[in-house]
Amino acid sequence: MNLILYFTRSGTCKKVSEILSQTIDSEVLELKDNMNWRGLLGFIKGGYHSFKESRIEYDIKEIDFSNYDQIYIVSPIWASKVQPTIRTFIKENNLQNAQLILVQGMRSPNENTIRNNLFITRKKTVYLCHKEVYKTDFNKNISRLF
Ligand SMILES: Cc1cc2nc3c(=O)[nH]c(=O)nc-3n(C[C@H](O)[C@H](O)[C@H](O)COP(=O)(O)O)c2cc1C
Repeated sequence: MNLILYFTRSGTCKKVSEILSQTIDSEVLELKDNMNWRGLLGFIKGGYHSFKESRIEYDIKEIDFSNYDQIYIVSPIWASKVQPTIRTFIKENNLQNAQLILVQGMRSPNENTIRNNLFITRKKTVYLCHKEVYKTDFNKNISRLF
């Protein structure tokens, strides 16, 4: 069994996770926190905490990760970096063997984004643009990512 864990503010990473779970036999879990990321203030706060790599308290406490063959982590890019709740979660649960899938607004990651997100996990990070997620044939292409 595999695990797909995601964080989302506006639904795209949830969609990626659901589509991925149709191809890969997996449990899907949403990581949540107690922050209010909504609206313009939430957007600014999100950018700030991501830039600062702040520690964000999360809600998933007791998972035995050894039960899973492969762990997929789907996260938005905030301020060119992995979303900070996900960053905290990966770090504090030693998930460096997970496959990280980062979804961003830009078509492809620039050098800065690639540099910022190197070595968060050991596997090569997969980048997606949120527009491609909403294309009708996205589900056909997802298995080609790995
Ligand atoms: C606070 C914040 C900062 C963002 N920064 C970037 C960025 O630096 N580069 C980028 O391409 N997209 C950026 N985005 C866009 C998101 O990565 C993109 O919309 C993603 O699909 C959102 O995923 P979600 O719908 O699962 O929340 C940012 C979005 C937010 C909310």
